[in-house]
Amino acid sequence: MTTLVRPPLVTAPLPTTHSRLLAWVREVAELTRPAAIRWCDGSAAEWEELTGELVRAGTLIRLNPAVKPNSFYTRTDPTDVARVEDRTFICSRDEADSGPTNNWVAPEEMKATMTELYRGSMRGRTMYVLPFCMGPLDADQPMFGVEITDSAYVAISMGIMTRMGSDVLAAMSAGGDAPFVPCLHSVGHPLEPGEPDLPWPCNETKYISHFPEERMIWSYGSGYGGNSLLGKKCYSLRIASAIARDEGWLAEHMLILKLTSPAGKTYHLVAAFPSACGKTNLAMLEPTIPGWQVETLGDDIAWMRFGSDGRLYAVNPEYGFFGVAPGTGWHTNPNAMRTIERGNSLFTNVALTNDGDVWWEGQTPRPPSQLTDWMGRYWTPDQGPAGGTPREPAAHPNSRFCTPIKQCPILSEDFDSPTGVPIDAILFGGRRATTVPLVAEARDWAHGVFLGATLSSETTAAATGKVGVVRRDPMAMLPFLGYNVADYFSHWLELGKQHSGRLPQIFYVNWFRKKADGTFLWPGFGENGRVLKWAIERMEGTADAVDTPVGLVPAAGSLDVAGLHLTPAEVEAAVAFDADEWRTEVPLIEEWFDLIGERIPTELLTELDLLKSRLDED
Ligand code: PEP
Ligand code: MN
Ligand code: NA
Repeated sequence: MTTLVRPPLVTAPLPTTHSRLLAWVREVAELTRPAAIRWCDGSAAEWEELTGELVRAGTLIRLNPAVKPNSFYTRTDPTDVARVEDRTFICSRDEADSGPTNNWVAPEEMKATMTELYRGSMRGRTMYVLPFCMGPLDADQPMFGVEITDSAYVAISMGIMTRMGSDVLAAMSAGGDAPFVPCLHSVGHPLEPGEPDLPWPCNETKYISHFPEERMIWSYGSGYGGNSLLGKKCYSLRIASAIARDEGWLAEHMLILKLTSPAGKTYHLVAAFPSACGKTNLAMLEPTIPGWQVETLGDDIAWMRFGSDGRLYAVNPEYGFFGVAPGTGWHTNPNAMRTIERGNSLFTNVALTNDGDVWWEGQTPRPPSQLTDWMGRYWTPDQGPAGGTPREPAAHPNSRFCTPIKQCPILSEDFDSPTGVPIDAILFGGRRATTVPLVAEARDWAHGVFLGATLSSETTAAATGKVGVVRRDPMAMLPFLGYNVADYFSHWLELGKQHSGRLPQIFYVNWFRKKADGTFLWPGFGENGRVLKWAIERMEGTADAVDTPVGLVPAAGSLDVAGLHLTPAEVEAAVAFDADEWRTEVPLIEEWFDLIGERIPTELLTELDLLKSRLDED
């Protein structure tokens, strides 16, 4: 049931008796002064109504129902296109707890600053109350959140990305008032009486703030996904990583997949890669090698807890995919294409075709002869956008599709399992043109943690800032850690000691190594199934490896390259350990460890010493 009330929040009937929630909603309404309050129920009727309003407001364009049923297109403000890492804050009480890698402001100071920004910030707008649950609602301890936002785009996106609505609200007070993470979001663009709205309201001033001790999130000024869909990066990674530290589990930036061998044996893998490095593609892989099959459980976030049998189990807290569109096509990720073809999806900052469909670079080998680009300009393959330059892409490099996970044709039947799936292997990977071999197996847990802790990648368009710069991105969590990075490494090592019996095997991968001529050494995509096969065979004891200072790399002939058009020398170049490249890498790792400072666990310093001494022998 939809409930619209005028503030102050006295109009009955209220849809919940949850007293902390009611008090918080009232407090936010009094501060932000919305014109109306809407408790979202997550129904199809509500989706109809909100998308209809957004179409009338000029925020959404309805796509051609013959090709994308019940789907919509939006262009953001051109300055609001990605996560803003320099405006993202971990406001722990003690600065040291946010660590050297996060921006920090004292919680009371941040609250004072943002309270003034929020004062009256929802004037002239509807305030949406979104009750959501990260992970299954029938989990032992369902992980509730409530987002308050003045963006209808956020409301419908959260409806795709999370379990959201009346069922969640009812569950929140079923057994007494349940705890929840309050997530406050405002685009920061109040409307004066009679003032026309913008298609994409936002504010130049942006804050994405996290209060890890209070388990609370305040976001202001941006409508873009990672900054505004607060159940995703803010809750499920930054706040959840702090909860996981306190409770002995892991909240990680990882895809989850199920792999079945030709013999019918099943395995589950998680894999951490930085944003826009192919997590969604790997999660939905169609292996080229006969008899192997992949099913998907998640493409971005894994919550992992140890079961009573001592094994590590993973759950995907999300309910949709918020994927990078460019590079997603029938040849690279047919299962993502099939997922969005079923409709019920939102597309942000891609290009629009003349017949009301969406297009982006890499969707088809050649672009259509004319398009409307992500800034609304007439665009042709030869000229680029009108008034722009010929090489400007039609879709923004960080343009996105937002689509229900239940539409994925290879979704594993265990997706809704409240306890998750047992994990056999963990992959860490980045985007490196040199140095890092195609695959290396860690010698043990501590060595695997070292490989994850020193992970590096070339930056992408997923965050604002320069693209293509190599930076350390520990466990691909650099932008998503809710606490001190050294403590995070200690937590990983500690869990390894506590659960030493049946730990997953750790592998280090790099699909992006290049030849001298700048082309990729490894074909990637469906061929990455060959690397997964090698990893499985290592665990089964049937594939040979060569011990190198960085780990165990495939011995000649052990990687299945049957049918691949690669020479043995090319395969060798992809998997090779190059001592000179690693001698160049060591000072970068030392620099990174120096930045982390004194809290760094000694086990990692020992691993670094081991790497150096093995390089000296080499
Ligand atoms: C986002 O930035 O909105 C997001 C989902 O994160 P990522 O960059 O990891 O895709
Ligand atoms: Mn991500
Ligand atoms: Na992003």
